[in-house]
Amino acid sequence: MATKSILITGGAGFIGSHVVRLFVKKYPEYRIINLDKLTYAGNLENLRDIEQAANYVFVRGDICDYEMLKKLFAEYAIEGVIHLAAESHVDRSIKDPFTFARTNVLGTLSLLQAAKEAWDGQWDGRLFYHISTDEVYGALELGGGFFTEETRYAPHSPYSASKASSDHFVRAFHDTYGMPTLVTNCSNNYGPYQFPEKLIPLFINNIRHRKPLPVYGKGENIRDWLYVEDHARAIDLIFHRGKVGETYNIGGFNEWRNIDLIRVIIRTVDRLLGNPEGYSLDLITFVTDRAGHDLRYAIDSSKLKNELGWEPSLQFEEGIEHTVRWYLDNQLWLDNVTSGAYEEYYQKMYGNK
Ligand code: NAD
Ligand code: TYD
Repeated sequence: MATKSILITGGAGFIGSHVVRLFVKKYPEYRIINLDKLTYAGNLENLRDIEQAANYVFVRGDICDYEMLKKLFAEYAIEGVIHLAAESHVDRSIKDPFTFARTNVLGTLSLLQAAKEAWDGQWDGRLFYHISTDEVYGALELGGGFFTEETRYAPHSPYSASKASSDHFVRAFHDTYGMPTLVTNCSNNYGPYQFPEKLIPLFINNIRHRKPLPVYGKGENIRDWLYVEDHARAIDLIFHRGKVGETYNIGGFNEWRNIDLIRVIIRTVDRLLGNPEGYSLDLITFVTDRAGHDLRYAIDSSKLKNELGWEPSLQFEEGIEHTVRWYLDNQLWLDNVTSGAYEEYYQKMYGNK
């Protein structure tokens, strides 16, 4: 018997699928409703292992569809929202900023408004938890400290500008209407089920096919990497124990220069494929830098550690090894995504789109 209905948006995407899996397995007493539009980034194959679970419901829909959202809140008496649905790739946002404003800003606003209408001031036991990125804080200099929860917002890319705007809307609903909200800003995630246009799965796949590895600029930009299951664990903890109205930064104090990270990936893939050491280094190809490429991201997550006791569970070397193995062991998943075949899975499972 479900005691609580929780809406997870974007659950067919990379991080969302890990959050859905964790909640479906860990909380059989919750009904987990996964609302996802299934854009190019949404892939129901990510959830094959739990799709038959009794406490799991998949709904295909757009977070910008306010009428649909109103019906959904009424039908399932939703009490908690974990909002991950978004357009998430910086390079796409540079080419098509409107889609990012629509989904990330207007979609988040529609979801907030639908929750507000449904909850109608009865805030007890309700929570709207918004998942965001450290990119809203802008960029750091080399050796220039860390992003904390107090760092001033200074987004540079259309992606981070749209996420910053959505964060502000969430806080505005808390401050204006008293809605119980939480926001977390996380660093770059890596791990299984990431869409292979992002750095790590793209490069693993390209090495596998002996295709060039396009390194933007000189590869000197720095990112702070966190294993996706550690992010999902943090989301679980914060959803249940986070202080309403607060913001928490999530990150693993794990900074890597892109070029150094790429060499680790090459070394790991070559070793696991039985290639001689250094075999794929010749695939590194320096290309024109990304416009407005943020130099460095680095998260200070000590608030989360001190207040809720969260820490990353995996060392980076273990996480990368596990990730590379996963993509090499799941070549069908990768091939289905790169060929577009993954989109047929929805049709088999749920009929026409
Ligand atoms: P993703 O692109 O892999 O998945 C996004 C999901 O949202 C997809 O399943 C897609 O179909 C769905 N979606 C897109 N538009 C939608 C719409 N209009 N209505 C309903 N569903 C829609 O993204 P991800 O990497 O899993 O990121 C999830 C969230 O976490 C995002 O909000 C992102 O900003 C945030 N985040 C990501 C990272 C990261 O490193 N990937 C880091 C910090 C925060
Ligand atoms: P990405 O995975 O797109 O995450 P984000 O831009 O949100 O941090 O990229 C991670 C880093 O890798 C970023 O500095 C851009 C760089 N990059 C490349 O050098 N080449 C690529 O093909 C991609 C996709 C990214």
